[in-house]
Amino acid sequence: MTEAIAEMTHMTGGRELVMVSNRLPVDRVTLEDGSMHWRASPGGLVTAVEPIVEQLGCVWIGWAGDAGEEIEPFEVGRMRLAPITLSIDEVAEYYEGFSNGTLWPLYHDVIAKPEYHREWWDRYQSVNRRFADRVAQEASHGAIVWVHDYQLQLVPAMLREARPDLTIAFFLHIPFPPRRIFAQLPWRRQLVEGLLGSDVIGFQRVADAISFRAVAERYGTAPSIGNTIVTPARGEQPGHTALAQEFPISIDAAAFAKIAEQPEIRARALQIRQDLGNPKTIMLGVDRLDYTKGIRHRLKAFDELIADGELEPAEAVLVQVASPSRERVEAYRQLRDDVEVTVGRINGERGSIGHSPVNYLHRSFTKDEMVALYLAADVLLVTPLRDGMNLVAKEYVACRGDERGALVLSEFAGAADELRDALLVNPHDIEGLKAAILRAAHMPEREQARRMRGMRRAVYNNDVAHWAQNYLGAVCAAADAKTQTQTGGRTEPIQVSAAYVPRQVDDRIRRLAAAPQLTVAIDFDGTVAPLVKRPADARILPRAQQALDVLREAPGVQVVLLTGRSLAGLAETQVASDGWIISGSHGAELMGLPGTTGVETLAPPTDEEREALQRAQRRVHRALGQVPGVRFEEKPFGFAVHTREVKDEIEAEELLTAAVEIGEAAGLHTRAGKRVREMSVRESNKGDVLNRIRAALPLAPVLFLGDDVTDEDAFAVLGHDDLGIKVGDGETAATQRVADPASVAAVLAMLAELRTGTVIGS
Ligand code: G6P
Repeated sequence: MTEAIAEMTHMTGGRELVMVSNRLPVDRVTLEDGSMHWRASPGGLVTAVEPIVEQLGCVWIGWAGDAGEEIEPFEVGRMRLAPITLSIDEVAEYYEGFSNGTLWPLYHDVIAKPEYHREWWDRYQSVNRRFADRVAQEASHGAIVWVHDYQLQLVPAMLREARPDLTIAFFLHIPFPPRRIFAQLPWRRQLVEGLLGSDVIGFQRVADAISFRAVAERYGTAPSIGNTIVTPARGEQPGHTALAQEFPISIDAAAFAKIAEQPEIRARALQIRQDLGNPKTIMLGVDRLDYTKGIRHRLKAFDELIADGELEPAEAVLVQVASPSRERVEAYRQLRDDVEVTVGRINGERGSIGHSPVNYLHRSFTKDEMVALYLAADVLLVTPLRDGMNLVAKEYVACRGDERGALVLSEFAGAADELRDALLVNPHDIEGLKAAILRAAHMPEREQARRMRGMRRAVYNNDVAHWAQNYLGAVCAAADAKTQTQTGGRTEPIQVSAAYVPRQVDDRIRRLAAAPQLTVAIDFDGTVAPLVKRPADARILPRAQQALDVLREAPGVQVVLLTGRSLAGLAETQVASDGWIISGSHGAELMGLPGTTGVETLAPPTDEEREALQRAQRRVHRALGQVPGVRFEEKPFGFAVHTREVKDEIEAEELLTAAVEIGEAAGLHTRAGKRVREMSVRESNKGDVLNRIRAALPLAPVLFLGDDVTDEDAFAVLGHDDLGIKVGDGETAATQRVADPASVAAVLAMLAELRTGTVIGS
């Protein structure tokens, strides 16, 4: 974590960080002597960004949470807080009205009916203006401004106009609605234009980013190329590009795990179980009391399970924590009444003296108490009808180092994209919900452990440091590009020359270009160097060489060459490969890996192996040596037979089959390539060696381009964040394809240009 944060400090390059959110991330506490203090508030939007802010320090602009109050700036830890004042009318119309009576329901699948009032809209604009003015006043030159959430969607454009020197990032913590629903909003164009003032717009889910790009095109006349939205010039404002992409938010998993290990927290968990009467199953729900959270559906399912006799009221308890929220908004008042009546009814009908099936707690708890609750709970019910992410689900998983406990998770929560090992439910389907709750209550320990392991892997793989690195990485790349433009390095916006790059490849390359760390791996023959008759005549295309030269120098990028050639055979091509990691002979030779010197090779052949090799080589030479067009190549652990120059393709195939038969009879490993077969005493392949290389560069997603059958081993080990591009025809495990080496050069040139701004000609 600390390492990752140190990396971020480096990335921001000394620029000031300014956070902007509706609410300041602090609570006021009055001590016994009547004195007043501020402390970081435990929940909400702040949870995720807290560790980043603690390390980087920031200015934070927001509302302190009470109407009409004017408060001087103050400091808490490394944050300097600059409070915004909101009048009673502004709270009613901007916050309760437009934010929570219009946008919130509109963005959450219209679960409640959004209201459209022109006075609310006017207030939303004027309050957004106040926030933007305050930022413009507080932010130092060239600062990174990070605007949070739906209450402040007009701030980016207002700020861009006032302060073109700033880099503006926006993150939407809640879902972005599908275009059909967004279309209802009378002020849809203005909102889209507001957001398009940003350099980077982050969303929780892929679907949110896709919806936004569609809306930007329709209502903002701003088309996208991949994840990049091209915003046209408006009036005085020059055009620019904005990255609109998903960055699923997360938690500081290790910090939660640490709390969960403390003996006093474990003791507290036992105490909670005891206080609840040591029931067989404790189920837990933790939500803000909000109609999007599906609390009514959950209570209904729980009640019916008792009524059906599926759950014994004495054996199962549901603890429902519902923290108070937006109590002056009508839909929330209604919800509170409904929930409290239902809880009363269930306890009245199903309870007994000294035992209530539902334990309802209408307040918030400290982080420690939450962790104790997570440890006490056998089942966590996270069943919202719609939720941006839901960090409670991730917190539960992070705390369960004991690999116990079951998670019932709504497929409509963002977390469902990552926590695939949860019991996923559609909360509208009450029968399905009941079945999942029952399954969770009776889940065998082995299944709990298996699922929990999978979920823990997902949470640890994308913890808050990973999230922040990706998001801030993209923001800092935008900031760097801006600095270059402003210092005269480049005055034109980036014009990417993507002559041969198919649209889908283009999308993925743009995303990779923004990754803080990146491994660019290539095959040689047939990929960056066109195939030629004599292997020694092969030459890398000048454009590919130039692009790789630029990428090699770019911070955070490692160039890797995975070739079937021996290192000696590669040297003949005169490729300039300083600073690359090079794997030769399909992984049998390796050089340039960080922390190593010289060439690492597999164990040399034993005498016996050498003999077998020589025997096979002799036979193959004898059998095929006279055939016109057949060539032999020496390899460190074997040899290769080439038939590229044999005119008849069928004959070439037959010759290669014969060679393989001889090799196999001598116990050699054989490997097929395009018009070539290799025999070797050592088994190695590009997939294994790529795995070794990435173990040395664990944070970097991998781009790998290759054309041959032997490159399939490398494609096969690529993961979700990586990108495999097959060059030319033929079956492949790669997800993308380009036509030929010239297109490979175009892909590399585009990547180099996006990453560094250096234009590489065709
Ligand atoms: C959600 C929103 C936040 C908001 C929080 C609490 O998490 O995404 O922007 O601050 O709810 O809501 P409140 O209305 O009390 O600020």
